[in-house]
Amino acid sequence: MEKSKVSLTLQSNSFVLALNVENIRAEFPILSTKVGKYPLVYFDNGATSEKPAVVIDRISKYYEQENANIHRGVHHLSQISTENYELARESVRAFIGAEHLHEIIYTSGTTEGINLVAHCYGELLNEGDEILITEMEHHSNIVPWQMLAERKGIVLKYIPLLKSGELDFTQLDSLLTDKTKLVSITHISNSLGTINPIKDVIEKSHAVGAKVLIDAAQSLQHMKVDVKELDCDFLVFSGHKVFGPTGVGVLFGKEEILNSMPPYKGGGDMIKTVSMEKTVYNELPHKFEAGTPNIVGGIALGTAIDWLSSLNYEDIQQYEHELLEYGTQELMKIEGVTIYGTAEKKSSILSFLINGLHPYDIGTLLNQQGVAVRTGHHCTQPIMDYFGIPGTIRASFSFYNTKEEIDIFISALKKAIQMLG
Ligand code: ALA
Repeated sequence: MEKSKVSLTLQSNSFVLALNVENIRAEFPILSTKVGKYPLVYFDNGATSEKPAVVIDRISKYYEQENANIHRGVHHLSQISTENYELARESVRAFIGAEHLHEIIYTSGTTEGINLVAHCYGELLNEGDEILITEMEHHSNIVPWQMLAERKGIVLKYIPLLKSGELDFTQLDSLLTDKTKLVSITHISNSLGTINPIKDVIEKSHAVGAKVLIDAAQSLQHMKVDVKELDCDFLVFSGHKVFGPTGVGVLFGKEEILNSMPPYKGGGDMIKTVSMEKTVYNELPHKFEAGTPNIVGGIALGTAIDWLSSLNYEDIQQYEHELLEYGTQELMKIEGVTIYGTAEKKSSILSFLINGLHPYDIGTLLNQQGVAVRTGHHCTQPIMDYFGIPGTIRASFSFYNTKEEIDIFISALKKAIQMLG
């Protein structure tokens, strides 16, 4: 049979597989490794995704055959590197549906993207202006706004969280005012899995003249996101969560808004001319890309995105939803389990606690049986404060995970509970 990632619909137990998960798994060398004597069960995809061989090979090839600095040399290697770096930018542009290539700014990741906007768009704001975020944000979508609020006397407001792990959008109309200059919201909660109705938020925010930043760190690996269709003003994501390397990410911004913002960091590449008296800044996207960037990171991110684009998002979503449903059903059978995040629209994230047991102890015992989960507050302390808990155990699935791995996880969890009980 031809080895393709997408196959005809296969029937496997109760699962309808439109993805050929076995073939996809074979592309990820790490998935066939062991933790001690146990096969690795990697359920920490919310923190970072594993990498397919094509991405790993691309990184090696770059250093073996292409390494040179970009945008600076007339020599062969510099030209190749520059071309590949810019081709990868085009892959990103097409992937998120941006109109212009120069609206794609390379960053070091989601955190830097948000900090860049807070800093540079923040420069355009005045005392008394308002920024609206939510109580479910990752710290990287809270702290930069708090720093800006302190620096410029800006008022920071929050859309409240509900017990279901959804946001209370009945408050949105009253929270948005003619002073709201920016709404910054996560597409998918990294701790609860909630998928937010961002299109609606964007429409309502635009109606009062506010710009909108979408934190897509947890969404692009699971679902199609099109910045033109959404009409968002900014969107940020990290390479390492979409099967690419760490240390590289993307800020999308609408051309007009990026042009109106002052630069972020000063240095090489972001200038047109420099004299002792004055610097003329470069055009987009270079205006926001000072210094030698993560060249191999950008190139390998392009490879990761091309690879991801060869899959069908509908198949991914359906399969991951089935994993989530199965995991939820099996977890609920265990006595004393509380699941945090029960939104109607949810991504493949299962955050939970077991009555009386510390998440860290469970995480440690799962690890001893080869199962990787994340434990703690997941950089979302306000969510944990809201639920009155120190943290959760979080299993986050990707489309290379399987129902059989969920069975291993559940039986490892039962063993851990027994050992702690
Ligand atoms: N933000 C990443 C997570 O949720 C690191 O684990």
